[in-house]
Amino acid sequence: MVSSILIRQAQILLPEGDFLRGDVLIQDGTIAQVAPEIPLETTFVPIDATGLTLLPGVIDPQVHFREPGLEHKEDLFTASCACAKGGVTSFLEMPNTRPLTTTQAALDDKLHRAAQKCLVNYGFFIGATAENLPDLLTAHPTPGIKIFMGSMHGALLVDQEAALEAIFARGTRLIAVHAEDQARIAQRRQQFAGITDPAIHSQIQDNQAALNATQLALKLSKRYQRRLHILHLSTGEEAELLRQDKPAWVTAEVTPQHLLLNTEAYQEIGTLAQMNPPLRSPQDNALLWKALQDGVLDFIATDHAPHTLAEKAQPYPNTPSGMPGVETSLPLMLTQAMQGRCTVAQVARWMSTAVAQAYGIPNKGAIAPGYDADLVLVDLNTYRLVRRQDLLTKCGWSPFEGWNLTGYPIITLVGGQIVYDRGKLNPQVRGQAIQFL
Ligand code: DOR
Repeated sequence: MVSSILIRQAQILLPEGDFLRGDVLIQDGTIAQVAPEIPLETTFVPIDATGLTLLPGVIDPQVHFREPGLEHKEDLFTASCACAKGGVTSFLEMPNTRPLTTTQAALDDKLHRAAQKCLVNYGFFIGATAENLPDLLTAHPTPGIKIFMGSMHGALLVDQEAALEAIFARGTRLIAVHAEDQARIAQRRQQFAGITDPAIHSQIQDNQAALNATQLALKLSKRYQRRLHILHLSTGEEAELLRQDKPAWVTAEVTPQHLLLNTEAYQEIGTLAQMNPPLRSPQDNALLWKALQDGVLDFIATDHAPHTLAEKAQPYPNTPSGMPGVETSLPLMLTQAMQGRCTVAQVARWMSTAVAQAYGIPNKGAIAPGYDADLVLVDLNTYRLVRRQDLLTKCGWSPFEGWNLTGYPIITLVGGQIVYDRGKLNPQVRGQAIQFL
């Protein structure tokens, strides 16, 4: 039986963005009451949250958790442990596993695996190929259709306008695009062939490649008034495009990496800085921050994409692109808030509330009666270095090693159960399949 939990004397972030010093009662996995003081009954399990801040659990809307098929990099158990430690109580996972998640059967298989071993809540995208339109129309439950317009090989690459248009033209569910122009990338790969400095990655897959694809996705979305989400938007040019022209049915996300790292990172961490779309310039960092502040960009995703250190140690361009993120995203952003770059309330909006709204996830993303008790208590007073030996992701590294951060989760709750408590996981906790309205 799940017990009632009383969180006492936390700084509680309320839905309007104000803070209340008070108590939260959790019953049957749901927030039952939020008040300055709630009497402790003998059946309640108390949590003393004095000095801690209570936020809605992070919903990370873009992760690659590698199961099935690529479990040497990560699996749903290790990834969800990393989520619990990072305050991520729900995730939406991408279809580039083996087999690809392009059928209902593959989606069901992931949901089944997650029910067995995931410590946090889960949802899985259905991947588009040029041939699986019927699956895209009927797959359930799923946050939406993922299209790789570029940066992908094999069946998941849909880079021809006619094939893209066929997907945009049929159905109504959300389409999430990885927007890079594959033809331009292929041509520039030849142009820069032979260069092994990983910094060339940002020139091969340049800003123009991202802009071209975002323009095309936007054009098709407008033609059919089709719900479009632009994944990991990375350039100032794309942000300016959306600032001028963003229909009500379009949303966009940005990663902490694209906000906080830039091409200078190649000098320090080499191929560990290689991701798709690539890191950009400091000016792009600034324009992305501004777009996020102004609401042109709607929310934050990590694009957690683990690869082993051995894979990352190959010489460019044989290295795989991607970096892990679920353990560091919340402290990274809260550290920015504590340094005055944004507010804690904005961080919670970008990492939870706005994601729930955009994907139609009911009862998540706020601390209010009736909402699911997916919560994270963070410590905004203590600073600690990101260290390789503390990480739970199977890949065992972070591009942010050595960064001094605050806002680390102290306790994480999923569905009213304590899944992480001061460095200790409860591996018995299981999340649930997320439903989408
Ligand atoms: O850098 C990336 N890595 N970007 C992607 O879109 C895919 C991901 C991966 O799966 O490794």
